[in-house]
Amino acid sequence: MTLKNDLLLRAARGEKTERTPVWLMRQAGRILPQYRAVREKAGSFIALATTPEMAAEVTLQPVDILGVDAAIIFSDILVIPEAMGLPYEMVEKRGPWFPNPIQTEADVQKLHVADAETDLGYVLEAIRLTKQGLQNRVPLIGFAGAPWTIFAYMIEGSGSKTFSKAKRMLYTDPVLSHTLLQKITDSTIDYLKAQVRAGADLIQVFDSWAGILSPEQYRTFSLPYLRQICDAISEVPKTLFAKDAWFARTELAQLACDTIGLDWTMDPVESRTLIGANKTLQGNLDPCVLYADFQTIEKETHQMLKAFGPERHIANLGHGVYPDTDPEKVKCFIETVKAAR
Ligand code: CP3
Repeated sequence: MTLKNDLLLRAARGEKTERTPVWLMRQAGRILPQYRAVREKAGSFIALATTPEMAAEVTLQPVDILGVDAAIIFSDILVIPEAMGLPYEMVEKRGPWFPNPIQTEADVQKLHVADAETDLGYVLEAIRLTKQGLQNRVPLIGFAGAPWTIFAYMIEGSGSKTFSKAKRMLYTDPVLSHTLLQKITDSTIDYLKAQVRAGADLIQVFDSWAGILSPEQYRTFSLPYLRQICDAISEVPKTLFAKDAWFARTELAQLACDTIGLDWTMDPVESRTLIGANKTLQGNLDPCVLYADFQTIEKETHQMLKAFGPERHIANLGHGVYPDTDPEKVKCFIETVKAAR
């Protein structure tokens, strides 16, 4: 069961690699016409995500079509609230929407700690099918949202610029906030462990709304739960991606993760100094670079590779690829990383 291409795992563990591995956050998604065709057939995002055969199919597409060094399982971070008893809808062009967001202590009490094998069996089955389809070509990444980011959606009920309802809860009812964050964390640990048992070779935790908290709030309401997750999972390498949390890099570096994801606002050299030599860094090309011409993409990609250096780096964008990106431009980014020495 050895992988033909294990660059990602070796880079995560800090081993020397012939070249820098590359994949893209949100690679399994709307940039590919082949994805849109399967999505059309499924009828809705949620139908696609809960049908293991189709989820596996779109997970494999970027490996076959784009030539990335890893697959990431097609799912969403919001399957956790749903598994805990808070269903969501994906509203066309607007994003996720929870009809009954969490408001009171009774709402929190009603939620249960998710049991991955029963509540999220469809994701685990998609992972098993994807592993079969991959035939050990590249590693498969499993993932979950960070407890704070999941909490933010559960309270807010949808996306938001400020997440002020969620932040209000932190200030007005810290005890209830911690109760909910702990329930999410327990659900997430069980879920990530189940993903690893099903075949995930590495896991990534997305703290997409890290950057809207103050450093003090981040220390109180996010880092302790990320620490629990990192301490609970030792089977595979772990990546933490805390978007816009430039202020937390030093503290993230204290956690038992292998890789820290950087967004494009974080300077690679400064980040290396703050984080130290014992972590791999992932990122961090601005996704908007992929709107530029091919020559500019090559130049910017080379510049990024040089800033990170050849060791302990996983090339990626600084956030998910935007849906209106030309797949040929994505290929250019991937090819440029692969050709660089
Ligand atoms: O990375 C991958 O290719 C794997 C699949 C994946 C999806 N969502 C599929 C998806 C992953 C890793 C996610 C994570 C996710 N989901 C995050 C964390 C990463 C980040 O972007 O910060 C967040 C915050 C969400 C919540 C979410 N899901 C939003 C806000 C939206 C709507 C806006 C958007 O980005 O599309 C989604 C929908 C979603 N998740 C789509 C896909 C392919 C588009 C839905 C569609 O196809 O109609």
